[in-house]
Amino acid sequence: MMAENDVAPVDVHVRGLSHVYRTPEGPITVIDGLDLDVIGPAHVAVTGPSGAGKSTLLAVLGGLDRAQEGSITVGGIDVTSLSGDDLARYRRDTVGFVFQHYGLLGTCTALENVELALSFTGGPTRLRRARALELLDAVGLSARASHRPASLSGGEAQRVAVARALANRPRLILADEPTGNLDDDSTERILELLHALPRDVGCTLITVTHNRAVADRADRRLQLRNGRLVDESAPSRKGVA
Ligand SMILES: Nc1ncnc2c1ncn2[C@@H]1O[C@H](COP(=O)(O)OP(=O)(O)O)[C@@H](O)[C@H]1O
Ligand SMILES: [Mg+2]
Repeated sequence: MMAENDVAPVDVHVRGLSHVYRTPEGPITVIDGLDLDVIGPAHVAVTGPSGAGKSTLLAVLGGLDRAQEGSITVGGIDVTSLSGDDLARYRRDTVGFVFQHYGLLGTCTALENVELALSFTGGPTRLRRARALELLDAVGLSARASHRPASLSGGEAQRVAVARALANRPRLILADEPTGNLDDDSTERILELLHALPRDVGCTLITVTHNRAVADRADRRLQLRNGRLVDESAPSRKGVA
């Protein structure tokens, strides 16, 4: 699938990452001196109960939120030193996001949702449209190109979201509870689609989930516990530094 999308493998290195939320009830330390090394391409799952800090970790890795302490490098990019336009460029060019609630624009068709992700990188409209169609085709949804999210099933909407995440050929895909809203059949289909990406496209995929069955699909499983990651997979598996 999508051989023309091949990207250069990316490694992720995190050192001493900490993240504290200041709340009226006092500070909440969510990430506490976390280290992570991923050698791409690989699919790494991060598990942990609700409130463990999984979404916070992904937000910081993906440049949606600034790291408060520690360092993150992704493919040699020192993410923690980026700001403003550079951070926006990192989010757009290096990272693809997949969220539990899909995050599609309700007034746009499936095709337009994918095209919008491409539109900021320039290029003729005709080429963008062709590329968006190719991406929808790759996730098996060409027949739904003109549908708006309200007339898509949850599984279809998430496939559009995966197509959108792939739009700019990201080297790192971050998926936050990607099957959290899906039934068993759609879950299976999305997991297959996501899990194939490191092998087929060459990107690194980090999935966070409280669902162990989802995590079992990954090459490597880590648990977020007390703000740090504990490796739960057997040694010498793919993606281990
Ligand atoms: N913006 C915020 N302000 C204050 N506390 C937050 C904020 N976002 C998350 N938290 C708290 O941080 C903890 C971890 O949240 P989160 O990263 O969403 O965990 P998870 O995704 O594992 O469920 C939770 O206790 C949550 O209430
Ligand atoms: Mg979460």
